[in-house]
Amino acid sequence: MKNFFFQKEFIKSPKKVDLIKTWVWTEKGLYLLDQRKLPFREDYILCNNVLKIRYAIRNMIIRGAPAIGICAAIGFAIEFKNFVSLLKSKEVLIRKIEEKIKKIADLLITSRPTAVNLFWAISRMQNVCFKLLKGFEYKIKKEDLLYLSEVLEKEAFKIWEEDIEANLAIAKYGEKLIPEGGILTHCNTGALATGGYGTALGVIRKAYEENKKIKIFLSETRPFLQGARLTAWELYKLKIPYILITDNCAGFLMKKGEISAVIVGADRIASNGDTANKIGTYSLAVLANFHKIPFFVAAPLSTFDLTIKTGKEIPIETRAAKEVLTCYKNKIAPPKSEVYNLAFDITPNELINAIITEKGIIYPPFEINIYQLIK
Ligand code: MRU
Repeated sequence: MKNFFFQKEFIKSPKKVDLIKTWVWTEKGLYLLDQRKLPFREDYILCNNVLKIRYAIRNMIIRGAPAIGICAAIGFAIEFKNFVSLLKSKEVLIRKIEEKIKKIADLLITSRPTAVNLFWAISRMQNVCFKLLKGFEYKIKKEDLLYLSEVLEKEAFKIWEEDIEANLAIAKYGEKLIPEGGILTHCNTGALATGGYGTALGVIRKAYEENKKIKIFLSETRPFLQGARLTAWELYKLKIPYILITDNCAGFLMKKGEISAVIVGADRIASNGDTANKIGTYSLAVLANFHKIPFFVAAPLSTFDLTIKTGKEIPIETRAAKEVLTCYKNKIAPPKSEVYNLAFDITPNELINAIITEKGIIYPPFEINIYQLIK
């Protein structure tokens, strides 16, 4: 790992940043920890324009709902700055600026479809632009665009900082719900998937820090192995003990009484509490319900989509067949096998006991209580 923190170019980092450096934002651009290579290599990739950030999100160099939202916001700011610094004329038509903003936003929001944090972050960045551009009628001076570029950097930074604060608050509320015994989590919801600390994994981390007697179980999370490769790596770094299980082991562990609660993150939560999250979440929720084990979701408010009523309206990403047909580039099935690689599923609200947010814990009936808390 490069030691960025002694380099002059290192400029931006919130005070409460995590031990795990998912990215480093410098004058040169955004260095992203390549999550495809973890846990065996800690390589950083420089993304200094919107196309590189889009590529990184699409190809899972960076992943996790809050993390892709924050990276997209930083990518927006970087691309706008590149654009302004290359401007030759002293004045530009407002129409041209609006076109550029739309182009940047479109490239980013089409990188992945399910996590709403991406759309939320980009709409925040666009609103900053529209607010400032409102004051200009036809043309805008380069010096005003330089100012807008600075404001965009600040907004992206704020989105990052706020996410860390939200995670710390989620951990504080959520820890109180965690019983002693086996706690099962799915996918990766730690520092690697967020601005820092994590959501569901943050709650588990806090429970451990509070000396609760818990045994942390991680499902490996086929096919990208976010549990085995990423969550295990984070806990290993933090020196927190864990037990890794295969995805299909969860049911029998519950039957044996070894699991006291399940806690997961979310990519999008509808107004009624239906929750999109990593494929396999729904199966865990059904199993937990059958075994009368509490099932919790932990997510910041940026993951709620109040424009949709139920989970049926959430677009579910399907990913390339090769993710299923191979494991570490080794073929594990006949190459021409037909594959259905759904990246997410929807857990209906009736299977969820509570949703933990930075503003407090939401209990059923979610249709009423989500609105109450967010309004
Ligand atoms: O495909 P991924 O790795 O981006 O999916 C990640 C998840 O499903 C996480 O559980 C979710 O984004 C919450 S991260 C705090």
